[in-house]
Amino acid sequence: MKVWILSFVCLFVSVSGEDFPSLITANASIAVVLDRQYLGEKYQSILDELKDYIKELARVDLKHGGVIVYYYSWTAISLKKGFLAVFSIASCEDTWDLFSRTEEEELLLFALTEVDCPRLPSHSAITATFTEPGEELPQLLLDLRTSNAFQWKSAIILHDDTLSRDMVSRVVKSLTSQIDEESASPVSVTVFKMKHEINEYLRRKEMHRVLSRLPVKYIGENFIAVVTSDVMTTMAETARDLLMSHTQAQWLYVISDTNAQNGNLSSFINDLYEGENVAYIYNMTDNNPDCKNGIMCFCQELMDAFISALDAATQDEFDVAAQVSDEEWEAIRPSKIQRRNMLLKHMQQHLAAKSRCGNCSTWRALAADTWGATYRGLSDASDLSNVNTNGSSGVIDKIDLLKVGFWRPIDAVRFDDVLFPHIHHGFRGKELPIITFHNPPWTILERNESGAIVKYSGLIFDIVNQLAINKNFTLKIILASVLKKELANDTLADTMHGMDAKLTIAAISKGQGALAAASFTVLADPMPGINYTMPVSIQPYAFMIARPRELSRALLFLLPFTTDTWLCLGLAVILMGPTLYIIHRMSPYYEAMEITRQGGLATIHNCLWYIYGALLQQGGMYLPRADSGRLVVGTWWLVVLVVVTTYSGNLVAFLTFPKQEVPVTTVAELLENRALYTWSITKGSYMEMELKNSDEPKYIALLKGAEMVTTSVGMGGTMTSGSALLQRVRFHRHVIIDWKLRLSYLMRADRLESDNCDFALSAEEFFDEKVAMIVPAGSPYLPVINKELDRMHKAGLITRWLEAYLPKKDRCWKASSMMQEVNNHTVNLSDMQGSFFVLFMGFFSASTVLVLEFLYHRRKRRSELTVIKPYVE
Ligand SMILES: *[C@@H]1O[C@H](CO)[C@@H](O)[C@H](O)[C@H]1NC(C)=O
Ligand SMILES: *[C@@H]1O[C@H](CO)[C@@H](O)[C@H](O)[C@H]1NC(C)=O
Ligand SMILES: *[C@@H]1O[C@H](CO)[C@@H](O)[C@H](O)[C@H]1NC(C)=O
Ligand SMILES: *[C@@H]1O[C@H](CO)[C@@H](O)[C@H](O)[C@H]1NC(C)=O
Ligand SMILES: *[C@@H]1O[C@H](CO)[C@@H](O)[C@H](O)[C@H]1NC(C)=O
Ligand SMILES: *[C@@H]1O[C@H](CO)[C@@H](O)[C@H](O)[C@H]1NC(C)=O
Ligand SMILES: *[C@@H]1O[C@H](CO)[C@@H](O)[C@H](O)[C@H]1NC(C)=O
Ligand SMILES: *[C@@H]1O[C@H](CO)[C@@H](O)[C@H](O)[C@H]1NC(C)=O
Ligand SMILES: *[C@@H]1O[C@H](CO)[C@@H](O)[C@H](O)[C@H]1NC(C)=O
Ligand SMILES: *[C@@H]1O[C@H](CO)[C@@H](O)[C@H](O)[C@H]1NC(C)=O
Repeated sequence: MKVWILSFVCLFVSVSGEDFPSLITANASIAVVLDRQYLGEKYQSILDELKDYIKELARVDLKHGGVIVYYYSWTAISLKKGFLAVFSIASCEDTWDLFSRTEEEELLLFALTEVDCPRLPSHSAITATFTEPGEELPQLLLDLRTSNAFQWKSAIILHDDTLSRDMVSRVVKSLTSQIDEESASPVSVTVFKMKHEINEYLRRKEMHRVLSRLPVKYIGENFIAVVTSDVMTTMAETARDLLMSHTQAQWLYVISDTNAQNGNLSSFINDLYEGENVAYIYNMTDNNPDCKNGIMCFCQELMDAFISALDAATQDEFDVAAQVSDEEWEAIRPSKIQRRNMLLKHMQQHLAAKSRCGNCSTWRALAADTWGATYRGLSDASDLSNVNTNGSSGVIDKIDLLKVGFWRPIDAVRFDDVLFPHIHHGFRGKELPIITFHNPPWTILERNESGAIVKYSGLIFDIVNQLAINKNFTLKIILASVLKKELANDTLADTMHGMDAKLTIAAISKGQGALAAASFTVLADPMPGINYTMPVSIQPYAFMIARPRELSRALLFLLPFTTDTWLCLGLAVILMGPTLYIIHRMSPYYEAMEITRQGGLATIHNCLWYIYGALLQQGGMYLPRADSGRLVVGTWWLVVLVVVTTYSGNLVAFLTFPKQEVPVTTVAELLENRALYTWSITKGSYMEMELKNSDEPKYIALLKGAEMVTTSVGMGGTMTSGSALLQRVRFHRHVIIDWKLRLSYLMRADRLESDNCDFALSAEEFFDEKVAMIVPAGSPYLPVINKELDRMHKAGLITRWLEAYLPKKDRCWKASSMMQEVNNHTVNLSDMQGSFFVLFMGFFSASTVLVLEFLYHRRKRRSELTVIKPYVE
């Protein structure tokens, strides 16, 4: 103790030189304030008795130093006199007023005051409230409120005749009054009275009438029922029938008709159900005639505690001072506030251990430990079949009540635990059976070489682990594969769920697991016996199609102009030749100037070649000399300029941006191209069901044209990249319709294997499939789980977790939007093949024409010979 004090004090070495005497050098002084107005005619007798008592106490119990006591008869006293503490007996208002001043002076105040008074903060004062036995109920509720046993904004008080009218208004006041302490904000209260019927049937009817009319939506679901024990039983049952006792509601039963002798509340509590929040505070008052009570008793006990604390504090100071020099002592002696805290702590301990005044009026608080109680003590999967097959909404076999605290007038409620353990601590670390199976990316069970499961991961496990942290439970994981096969016997003959999923549904519907940590498609008409949680994820459908290929570039040189432009151009060349010829021929210029029309443009044949040459910017040797002809040629040059510039520019563009096939990115486009493409849907999938139910023409057409395949695409890689279906997509214009997620896994797998981006996803997404976990039907924890899921969604946690399991975005992903990125294309042979082809064509036709010319020449010579022949003869 000495060492502790020393080290404690050493921490505060810097705080010194305060103007207050040490307990060694001066006797402690204390102010005793007995408010004459409050005490009335009892004042004088109490004063005399107290004076004698203190004198005797100081003489007998105070072994070190002494105490100087100043008595006052009103609270408006000056506190500047270096008191160590103040003891007061005054009204509530005066006590608080005095407290605000002792707080300024850092003095210890221990007060005895009237009932229904909020207690002074326990970290700087002690308050005892004196009541006649049987009047303490409002004080009890007030103490619950100020000690934050419930943090409610609103409460519904249900009471029967046990609470008199006067008492009701005091109870209401104790909950609604404004208190200086910021922690205890007022509770808005609604009060309902029930007639006390002796007859069980009538009582039930009355209860039903009152409870069923409560507008809980507006007045909250926090109930305080101040009733007798038999009414409590009826009320608990009625509330349960009306679905008012659930995970979000809190019921506090205040039972006053018990006492220390029949104080076994367990016998009154018949049933408790999973998911309820119920707490009981019951009367443990002992009517023993030996019980001590009365103002004088409290005065004496408080003074006892003070003198004991003072004695201990003085002793400590002497001990410490004896070990150090005077200067050191001056430096390390406790400050005013430290001394106050030491005294306060000592007094509180003394009172807690030794106080007897009024402790006959004791109330005890119990809390029902209901959440997850059905699953308590499961050891392995075989136990599961013994779980109450009435589902988790079932009644709890073994009722477990926690002793959370008790109340006495002198030191208020003392809690060992919280009043509503499940509100604060969720499942309180219980183990819940969770059924699961392997289904990536939702649930991934990793096994080591010997087949033992070493790790559970996947989106659902991320969520469930977070849920377990937030709601304070541990997981007992049960694999669907170890469940008995008969379970899945019955009506679940659908193809949407695999064997594991069916087993899981069957087990959940029988209440053998609190939750299935697996993904299930949310169906409009769910299987009986289960409820879906809020969707964990929403998966859209999309289709996968071969990436559009580049068109052949053999005819690249033709691409800059459309066919009709080429035709017009050809026509213009053909027409311009004769036009030039005619204008050149008809021009009178040559006759007038007497120039002969020589060479070049004199024949229509030459004009044609001239125009063609001009088109290719290979100007001819001759030009017309007449202006008319020149105008024709000049205009043609202009046309040529425009045409050629446009062509070259366009050609560059076509070289840089290769032309693609027309991509199919929406269902409508797919249907337009139904002659080209075939498509397939997994048989028995949600997609098929939705399509069947849809009355949109495009979906009807989509279903009609679809092939039904049984091989599921699967996300664990069940479909290999070489599979027939994929090859069809790759080479034969086939389209797979499935979850976008699954398709992107497939694309990723294919890319890793063959390192090319052969596939693309549709831009359009359709039919969102909701994926959720399941709980047994009517599970009380569904709202709890949904609330947590909602929070995780809003915090963006689920999206982030899911992203971790999605295929990483690679270059295929980037290109899958079907926009080819601009790359710096260098011209290669495939781009140029067209021009070489033209060159070859030109060479070939030149050769042909050459042969023709030879033939022509020979024929001409022969005919000349035959003409000459007769002439020679
Ligand atoms: C303290 O009180 C005791 C007895 O009450 C007395 O004998 C002693 O003189 C007092 N000491 C001082 C410093 O007043
Ligand atoms: C508590 O029980 C005692 C003894 O049965 C009784 O006298 C007292 O009135 C009860 N308290 C209340 C508030 O009803
Ligand atoms: C209370 O009553 C129950 C049964 O009604 C009994 O099992 C239990 O032992 C009793 N507890 C006490 C402390 O008497
Ligand atoms: C009153 O307090 C004493 C001592 O703390 C304890 O032994 C006794 O059981 C208490 N009486 C009641 C009724 O709680
Ligand atoms: C299921 O509940 C019914 C009535 O609620 C009850 O009779 C039956 O015993 C319960 N079954 C089990 C296994 O607890
Ligand atoms: C979980 O429950 C245990 C048992 O009641 C409790 O001690 C613990 O504080 C709780 N944890 C949280 C985070 O609420
Ligand atoms: C696999 O895990 C189980 C359980 O953790 C362990 O007993 C076993 O030795 C492991 N096997 C190998 C090959 O690591
Ligand atoms: C399976 O279901 C059928 C009818 O639904 C029933 O007759 C049969 O007993 C069931 N088998 C098992 C093992 O539960
Ligand atoms: C749970 O399922 C039952 C039937 O299976 C249904 O009547 C009930 O509305 C569902 N509850 C919720 C909250 O969806
Ligand atoms: C052109 O392509 C080459 C290789 O593909 C690349 O290294 C270079 O940075 C590119 N240049 C431009 C301007 O994009």
